[in-house]
Amino acid sequence: MKRDRLVLVFLAVVVLLAVVAGGIGWGAGHYTNRTKTVGSITTTATVSVDPTVAAGAHDFVQFACAQCHGQDGQGGISPDVPSLTSAGKTLTVAQLTDIIDHGLGESANPTKPYMPVWGSVISTRQVSDLIAFLRAGLPAVATAEAPAVPQGQGLAVEGATLYVRDGCINCHGPNGLGGVPNPQSPDKAIPALSGVDFRKEFNTDAKIIAVIRSGSVIGRAPIVSMPHWGGIIPKRQLQALVAFLKTLK
Ligand code: HEC
Ligand code: HEC
Repeated sequence: MKRDRLVLVFLAVVVLLAVVAGGIGWGAGHYTNRTKTVGSITTTATVSVDPTVAAGAHDFVQFACAQCHGQDGQGGISPDVPSLTSAGKTLTVAQLTDIIDHGLGESANPTKPYMPVWGSVISTRQVSDLIAFLRAGLPAVATAEAPAVPQGQGLAVEGATLYVRDGCINCHGPNGLGGVPNPQSPDKAIPALSGVDFRKEFNTDAKIIAVIRSGSVIGRAPIVSMPHWGGIIPKRQLQALVAFLKTLK
């Protein structure tokens, strides 16, 4: 009897110790978590940017605006594409919206660049964020940068990055799958850059390069046409894009 009681007391002490140890561990875990949270709040606070302007800066990268209008919209890429440093002040919100939705340039001249018609591809929220970014004077926003083009790894690898960097992916889809809606065009969708049909029609490098340079005019906006990249994308990069397209399904 006495021995049983002793065993019980012993067990109770063991349980109590376990609870205390667990409590300390739990507290320590929470303490660490709390330190982490405080740390991340401090970091965000030091680089705080208006979220609308920040979103616009990321859209500016995603939709390849800098590939024609230059880094931070400073120009210098082609004499046919203006810098955007004053557009945010001289043009109204309505004018800017119209330009982004409908494109601008000499659509009939294949040797000249033509700004893409983004209307059916971009959202109204993305357009208003882009305009906020332009009107804020295109400030530098951390991590809103086009991906660096890998060097010395072959043309196809370069081309895969250019496909994202030049914004092709927004219209032709990941891996060139196509299918992005273009409701008023004859095909109702932006064409794939992969598959048997594409390869049959575009069976030489020269044909693919020609369409990238001179684009197309299927009709007037809101129909999305292929932008003209003439004078913008240099020859080596056109060859890299072709090399990448040939790796697709
Ligand atoms: C394929 C090249 C190309 C791309 C990509 C491009 N643009 Fe343009 N953009 C042009 C050309 C060309 C013009 C000038 C047309 C003209 O005035 O003849 C222009 C004009 C403009 C103008 C009018 C500027 C002014 O002072 O009149 C604005 C604003 C503009 N682009 C914004 C953008 C934004 C925002 C993006 C990204 C969503 C973008 N562009 C992407 C080629 C491009
Ligand atoms: C704003 C949307 C848009 C962007 C950005 C765009 N394209 Fe296109 N592209 C089109 C449309 C629309 C067509 C179909 C044109 C037609 O039917 O006349 C097309 C056609 C093509 C074709 C011919 C395929 C066919 O079946 O007609 C090739 C090749 C092509 N694009 C490559 C590219 C590459 C490479 C890029 C990036 C440098 C690019 N495109 C960026 C919209 C776009």
